[in-house]
Amino acid sequence: MAAWNFQSALVPVTGAASGIGLAVCRRLRQEGATPLLIDRDGARLAAAVADIYAGDADASRYGYQVDVSDAAAVNACFDRIRQEHGLITHSVASAGIVGPGHVLSLSDEDWRRVMGVNLDGVMFFCRAAARHLAERRGGAMVNMASIAGQAAKHSRASYSASKAAVVNLTRALAMDMGEFGVRVNAVAPGVIDTPMQTGGSIGIAGRGALKRMGDADEVANAVLFLLSDLASYVTGHTLAVDGGVSATYA
Ligand SMILES: NC(=O)c1ccc[n+]([C@@H]2O[C@H](COP(=O)([O-])OP(=O)(O)OC[C@H]3O[C@@H](n4cnc5c(N)ncnc54)[C@H](O)[C@@H]3O)[C@@H](O)[C@H]2O)c1
Repeated sequence: MAAWNFQSALVPVTGAASGIGLAVCRRLRQEGATPLLIDRDGARLAAAVADIYAGDADASRYGYQVDVSDAAAVNACFDRIRQEHGLITHSVASAGIVGPGHVLSLSDEDWRRVMGVNLDGVMFFCRAAARHLAERRGGAMVNMASIAGQAAKHSRASYSASKAAVVNLTRALAMDMGEFGVRVNAVAPGVIDTPMQTGGSIGIAGRGALKRMGDADEVANAVLFLLSDLASYVTGHTLAVDGGVSATYA
């Protein structure tokens, strides 16, 4: 098989209605793959599906409105995918939320909301995806971590903890899935110009070697590399895509 061949790839992507997830779907479609768009925001999901599958009268069958923090809904989604499209070949977990809050004022509810999406949601989605991939004995998974998973900043305890957990969950899943020929990796973006970065301020990106924010497409390219057979000996790894922010101590 060619190292870079997505022609028969069937790839569920969470957080697909916006930002990095949407960019991943665009790149996958350009390479001939069939991305399945998963998001909890129905209106933006419908717009994204119509955009990615423009000209396809049956485009809505590639969109699934699901809240990834709801395990039963995620499992039901993968049952529907199996019936409607077959077994998946890869997966990308990009859905995530930011939860500000100083530890002295962080409410139980805010803590659980962020962990529910950023950690439980990744686990529930990866578990359901792994069942498909174990059955077909092959494939690759990519999860969205963050530079916030390796270092911290003020008033971001829930977000930082959730992203550090994604890094080690990715290693653990790589261990479990290796015997099935399935690779599991993560990408750790720096400051990327998406709706999540309200205000569009360069912020911490100015401290990186490249001194600019990244584009969602630049993260998507790294995701496609890790999904592809070009990365056939890479598993359990978290790849920084941050313009050098994590490379400096200055
Ligand atoms: N943008 C950045 O600078 C940056 C940096 C590091 C990491 N990340 C991570 O990259 C991922 C994507 O971020 P983005 O910038 O594209 O954000 P975004 O806000 O543009 O998109 C996130 C998408 O996830 C969806 N979503 C949120 N909660 C969901 C849920 N419970 N179930 C299903 N869908 C849900 C949203 O509706 C939205 O469409 C996130 O995990 C984020 O933490 C982003």
